[in-house]
Amino acid sequence: MSNDARLQGRIALVTGAGSGIGLACCQRYASEGATVIGSDLNEAANWQSVADSAPASAFYQLDVTDLAAQQSMVAEVLERFGRVDVLVTAAGIGDAGPIHAVEEEAFERVIDINLKGTFLSMKAVLPCMMEQRSGSIITVASVEGLQACEGGSSYNASKGGVVLLTKNAAMDYGRMGIRVNAICPGFIDTPLLRSVMDMEGLEAFRADVEYQHKLGRFGKPEEIAGAAFFLASDDASFVSGQALAVDGGYTAGHSHGLVELMGLT
Ligand code: NAI
Repeated sequence: MSNDARLQGRIALVTGAGSGIGLACCQRYASEGATVIGSDLNEAANWQSVADSAPASAFYQLDVTDLAAQQSMVAEVLERFGRVDVLVTAAGIGDAGPIHAVEEEAFERVIDINLKGTFLSMKAVLPCMMEQRSGSIITVASVEGLQACEGGSSYNASKGGVVLLTKNAAMDYGRMGIRVNAICPGFIDTPLLRSVMDMEGLEAFRADVEYQHKLGRFGKPEEIAGAAFFLASDDASFVSGQALAVDGGYTAGHSHGLVELMGLT
């Protein structure tokens, strides 16, 4: 833990804590003094790194589409710690394809986990935050929830839904001292991204996507955790209802190669 730990004494719940962005959020929160309650469908490969910084932290294996399981986890957390200060909803899956090629079951699955799962996580935690009259909820949407992309029907619909669900919650619960914001990551180097980008035949696509990030690279999970730390902290005390793109400039505009011609490399 750092000497100037800025989440000291806070209780943070993080879904999708087993991997990638969720795990990086857990690690950052723990290093900032928070007690972290992580949950994931799968076991967390590297949970020990969280427990080493914050020994009171705990991990629950559950499915975000299961409201009863999430409510029972929150009840146990309340019994043990008496409050929940932060919720990060990072559980999610990828999906791709134009509408005619996406099976109905695949569409339902991605909406169920990415959108309904976010709704259920918020639903499980909000009664306690309402009683406390405080809390910071951070949803993990995507740049693909802000703008369309080729073959992005189901995933983009799920993430666009997360952005508006977030803004609506900020409106509904702001008077009770609860801040609600979405982080919209660009392409972040995690197992989820690699499962797509490492597919054969996608080499040129991968290079172009990387190029469209104005910083010229994919992001790292810790860079999303940095934004999640800010939104959880008191420095963000007047930030609510925002969809914060943390995307290396991906959504700033289209790149067509002029910066190279101008020697700006
Ligand atoms: P990841 O695959 O590394 O981690 C996602 C975690 O969610 C996994 O541990 C998985 O087991 C868990 N999960 C999946 N379904 C679940 C369920 N039903 N219940 C509980 N846990 C479940 O992926 P990554 O990249 O860390 O993604 C985290 C979030 O960030 C996702 O919502 C993703 O859509 C979003 N995102 C990721 C981007 C990227 O480029 N990696 C870009 C923009 C958004």
